[in-house]
Amino acid sequence: MSATMVSAVANVSASEPIYLDRNAPIEKRVEDALSRMTLEEKVALCHAQSKFSSPGVERLGIPEVWMSDGPHGVRAEINWNDWGYSGWNNDSITAFPALTALAATWNPELAALYGKSIGEEARYREKDVLLGPGVNIYRTPLNGRNFEYMGEDPYLAGEMVVPYVQELQKNGVAACVKHFALNNQEKWRGTVNVDLSDRALYEIYLPAFKKAVQDGGAWAIMGAYNKIWDQHCCHNHRLLKDILRDEWGFDGVVITDWGGAHDTKEAALNGLDIEMGSYTNGLTSESEFGYDDYYLANPYLEMIKSGEVPESTVNEKARNILRLIFRTAMNTDKPFGSKCTPEHYAAAKLIGDESVVLLKNAGILPLDGTKYNSILVVGDNATRRLTDGGGSSELKPKDYLSPLSALQALYGDKVKYAQGYACGRTHYEAEDIIPQEEQDRLREEAVAMAKDADVVIYIGGLNKNAWQDCESTDRREYELPFGQNQLIEELIEANPNIVIANISGNAYEMPWVNKVPAILHTSYLGTMGGASLADVIAGNVNPSGKLPYSIPKKLQDCGANFYGEISYPGIEEGDADFVAIPGSVIEGGKKPHQTYKEDILVGYRWHDTKKIPALFPFGYGLSYTDFEYGKPIATGKIIDENGEIEIEVPVTNKGMREGSEIVQLYISDLKSSLPRPVKELKGFDKVKLAPGETKTVKFKITPEELKFFDDKAHAWVAEPGKFKALIGASSADIKHTLDFEYK
Ligand code: BGC
Repeated sequence: MSATMVSAVANVSASEPIYLDRNAPIEKRVEDALSRMTLEEKVALCHAQSKFSSPGVERLGIPEVWMSDGPHGVRAEINWNDWGYSGWNNDSITAFPALTALAATWNPELAALYGKSIGEEARYREKDVLLGPGVNIYRTPLNGRNFEYMGEDPYLAGEMVVPYVQELQKNGVAACVKHFALNNQEKWRGTVNVDLSDRALYEIYLPAFKKAVQDGGAWAIMGAYNKIWDQHCCHNHRLLKDILRDEWGFDGVVITDWGGAHDTKEAALNGLDIEMGSYTNGLTSESEFGYDDYYLANPYLEMIKSGEVPESTVNEKARNILRLIFRTAMNTDKPFGSKCTPEHYAAAKLIGDESVVLLKNAGILPLDGTKYNSILVVGDNATRRLTDGGGSSELKPKDYLSPLSALQALYGDKVKYAQGYACGRTHYEAEDIIPQEEQDRLREEAVAMAKDADVVIYIGGLNKNAWQDCESTDRREYELPFGQNQLIEELIEANPNIVIANISGNAYEMPWVNKVPAILHTSYLGTMGGASLADVIAGNVNPSGKLPYSIPKKLQDCGANFYGEISYPGIEEGDADFVAIPGSVIEGGKKPHQTYKEDILVGYRWHDTKKIPALFPFGYGLSYTDFEYGKPIATGKIIDENGEIEIEVPVTNKGMREGSEIVQLYISDLKSSLPRPVKELKGFDKVKLAPGETKTVKFKITPEELKFFDDKAHAWVAEPGKFKALIGASSADIKHTLDFEYK
């Protein structure tokens, strides 16, 4: 018997195994299991054993923790020890719409349906932790990962993330909310050091995480790659200890982003629980750097043994991890799950339907097939499998219905197709690899065909290749790539009867906006995406999505991009403290640092306050019907500390078809001791209305909705004074205003 085996036996308690008693209180089970474990077993819990799992305690029958990306579907199985796909035949899934599409529905019921459905798939695939959802705030349209998040507004993201997390976890699968915090760009994501005010942190970047933790009850959270205040987020004392644990009372597990740990002592002391994906320490290749070499493996064990860090740190981590295991892998009440069911396809379709945003319509939409003999579809995204690429959110859907197939199913052989432009098919192939002659040929072919068509439907946008909507790279420019603007301009000349129906997880420049009669904007919609887009085009679905982020006219109109490089993407100086391996998932840089100069003025807060109108504002989206907002009635004009005002707004469908309207409440603080944005979203409701029908939308205002974060006092405060409640159809379309006072 080896020394470790002897010490293991010596540590085993002879008492009844309370940890196996499913009816015992969870904290008792945790303490019981902990009391039976050796130091080595506790340390083993704290780091990966494969690319996507961490160990349990074999001797005690405590199972491993299996994780999977997230957040738009359960990712295909990855090899034990490298990033290759395992090639299983039983891991294809339903691809749900991207989270930015979910946010565009402004429908928390659909967020619940999303969480339930993806949770069932994760359960069926026997996962314990789903690596999502992501609630990093959309700060700049250049961020390659905005499609994985829920837009620019903390209130909207917070309202959407809670039901997602709650319903997901009913399956005994933990949400791992990511990336905590400020992973708001992919460029230099592994090294960039973010500097920002406490106000921006608390008012803009933290609220959705806080709601996910406190209201959603998230069981796990993922640290971000970047640094803030000179310390990596995965072992950032202030973020993980002061804020997450002490202020919010989080009792779940903090997991690193893959390769996000860089220091044993900080990881030991600053509240990290599980270290994943430490592909390399920057100096050695994967084969030379085993799981035992992880920061939270042998080096940690040594530090505890030598007394450099206290053993209490590993007890704390093991407690959190055991709690997670009892909630998930050892949860005997969890359902069995299911995947690719008709219900999941229907859920994906419904979410997709409600996410499509109609930006402009001079009457051409919905497209009545009987009026046209030839319909030309142009654009690579009409056929491209947009579940491929994008990084860790890449999916292997069992089925994928492209927009072109869906349009063909609706309009039959009237539909012709021209690709129009090309982009490389594999992840890191981009426009550069397509020779200009080939792009010219494709463009000329499409333009020639457009001349002969009755109507053109253009389906382009971004895709999931590098430098588009894709993890680990940011976009290189705000305009559409692959010469699409030139193509669109030439198509308009050839045939002005054109509908732009772009797919993109981000805003982009639209120099042709005034020349086209109709624009639809949607994100990556997964398995059923083609059907959602085609049904909106044909009018089988009345569009009801609204923008979860502003679309600035030009890049410099966005607050984050206004102040130049120091604000985005940052400035490089000095040597990075670790060297990222070329081609690894973490792009390094020479110690870049950045300051969020726009501070709390993110998205519409910037456009409104600086009086720089967006091309299409936050909260904007049209319908095939018209809505009328009646005069709102408030229950009072004054609130005090314990008071509330209720506002009722009648909304009527004045058109001829059923439709849904998203009614928004913004609050404006007329005078405050610290600067505030002109207004902030504090309520919304989506109402479905039959033609002629009126429904009353109700909002409640309490002192909570009036607060800002006073950084000096480190507290949320509502200051007495005058306020306005603004009821609108978007952040720039305010229908009614009510004055009130806080005393
Ligand atoms: C991403 C995470 C992801 C992880 C595992 C990282 O590169 O940033 O979002 O969950 O990989 O695939």
